[in-house]
Amino acid sequence: MKTPAAAVSPERWAKLFTDGFAPLPESLIPALEFVQRREGYLPREAMTALARHLRVPESRVFGVASFYSLFHLKPRGRHQITVCRGTACHVRGSARLLGDLARLTGVQAGGTSADGFLTLETVACVGSCALAPVVVKDKVYGRQTSASVKRLVDELRAPEGRPGIPAGASPVRSHGGRQTGNRRKR
Ligand code: FES
Repeated sequence: MKTPAAAVSPERWAKLFTDGFAPLPESLIPALEFVQRREGYLPREAMTALARHLRVPESRVFGVASFYSLFHLKPRGRHQITVCRGTACHVRGSARLLGDLARLTGVQAGGTSADGFLTLETVACVGSCALAPVVVKDKVYGRQTSASVKRLVDELRAPEGRPGIPAGASPVRSHGGRQTGNRRKR
């Protein structure tokens, strides 16, 4: 998890937006992307300052920020595991996998462990429905089972965790924004 952005004052945010973005409504998404890249999430102070800069209601900024899964309203863990909850993955047992992961990690969907180690997330579809059920951890893993997601967690926990393909899992090359990009949150 990155250092909390509370260290960035509202005045500093205002300056960053003034320097980098025209005060026009169309600057909204690029400015949010800028904040997300810089902080790893969207601090409230930044969104308030952005609304002022763009002269749009705060509700519009929050609405856009909460619509796209690209944006995160809370700090995230150093590692992320994302379970696809789209229809194809649901039919093939993604709810069970999500429960398995919550039990194994002690983190509920949408949450982050207290030590900032792991965030457990869901996504609507990553575009690999033929491989359902799908879990994303750095890359897409298809045809997941309770046993294979346990191996993913074990690898994450191991100090010298072997990166790569757990036995029985089917890694799929990620396709840029098709993983968790501009897709609506569930
Ligand atoms: S529904 Fe899970 S990849 Fe499409």
